[in-house]
Amino acid sequence: MTKLIPMISAEEIQIKIKYAAELISRDYKNKKLVLVGILKGSIIFLSDLTREITIEHEIDLVGTSSYSGTETTGSIKFTKLPDIQLEGKDILIVEDIVDTGTTLTALMRYFQTLKPASVKICALINKNERRELPIDVHYSCFDIEKGFIVGYGLDYNEKYRNLPAIFDLKL
Ligand code: IMP
Ligand code: MG
Repeated sequence: MTKLIPMISAEEIQIKIKYAAELISRDYKNKKLVLVGILKGSIIFLSDLTREITIEHEIDLVGTSSYSGTETTGSIKFTKLPDIQLEGKDILIVEDIVDTGTTLTALMRYFQTLKPASVKICALINKNERRELPIDVHYSCFDIEKGFIVGYGLDYNEKYRNLPAIFDLKL
């Protein structure tokens, strides 16, 4: 039987997002900040984060599917490319969770080819259990050691994204 064990409350999430947004608003003052959310897991986090950031910025979204795609963009396959011109901009990738690091390593490589002024990472969750590639997560709201978590955008087979808090999923 599937069990959802409460792990991070909705209130705790909002506190950490406010703090991350403060740091971002300070660090990117007078820069050309673009938040680039990774579909679909980051959309809820992105929508809260953008409203807490107090400096002017743009938003875009990219979609990725498999790790072993055959596209020329690297080792990930894009289901949606960025819409806005990113050359000379300060890209902040917004991701739900960093696990092995495969997705972000490939995305960092891709964004660098667009000649931005900078590329950094903001993740809701930094999970260390299965890290295979070293990833510098510049802004992270929560660090967890292990487990499979759902809620607040994170899914298990496309379910549970709507939960307002984060739960440990026990199958
Ligand atoms: P990575 O390329 O292994 O770092 O994978 C990151 C992606 O795997 C995330 O964007 C999620 O879509 C998914 N993922 C990894 N761990 C979890 C988890 O605990 N819950 C839900 N999705 C996860
Ligand atoms: Mg994801």
